Amino acid sequence: MNARSAMLCSVCLLVCLLVVSSGASAQAKGASLVARGKYLVTIGGCNDCHSPKVMTPMGPMNDTTRLLSGHPAQAKLPVLAKGLIAPDQWGAVTSGDFTAWVGPWGTSFTANLTPDQTTGLGSWTVDMFIKAIRTGKHMGEGRNILPPMPWPNFRQATNVDLKAIFAYLQSLPPVENAVPDPISPTGESIPTPHMKK
Ligand code: HEC
Repeated sequence: MNARSAMLCSVCLLVCLLVVSSGASAQAKGASLVARGKYLVTIGGCNDCHSPKVMTPMGPMNDTTRLLSGHPAQAKLPVLAKGLIAPDQWGAVTSGDFTAWVGPWGTSFTANLTPDQTTGLGSWTVDMFIKAIRTGKHMGEGRNILPPMPWPNFRQATNVDLKAIFAYLQSLPPVENAVPDPISPTGESIPTPHMKK
């Protein structure tokens, strides 16, 4: 091997190493984005409202078999006494698992945040997710997102953090759960396309 071909070989080797290591670092970057997203979802309290619960002697705990899958479609809600929610009475009430909420806005049900294609965020892009959180509009352009979803707080997050949250949500096992549409204060269903069958 002459000096020139030896040099060529070492250049080739260097290029190969760079390609391999950039692939590995992209993978590591993806994993750390998901880890960061998990951390933000944990401290952001998303599970409090978006995860079904199991009852324990310590009170309701997240059901780890269906994390962040939203208000369970088959759940039956108790009838609310008339006049319970009024300006001089209670401001809002919630179901035992904190996935359904009744207030002056009507009844809202927490969304399925798992990547299920038809009932969750499986068909969402990261841009739609960021737009929804920043604007408070369903899927970034539909009706207003109802309380108590704390989007006015989360909209303060950086793009990198919102991307991390979305990456973590997309890494969850998909759970098929068609969350019901919200109900207006006068009892009509408020259509919410694309997030249910
Ligand atoms: C205090 C309860 C509560 C907490 C905490 C909460 N959410 Fe929500 N979220 C809701 C409710 C209720 C809805 C359904 C609102 C509706 O139907 O308009 C919702 C809807 C959503 C939606 C669907 C928006 C759309 O376009 O329709 C997304 C995405 C979402 N939440 C993400 C999150 C994330 C991520 C976190 C944590 C960082 C979180 N939520 C924390 C109550 C909550």
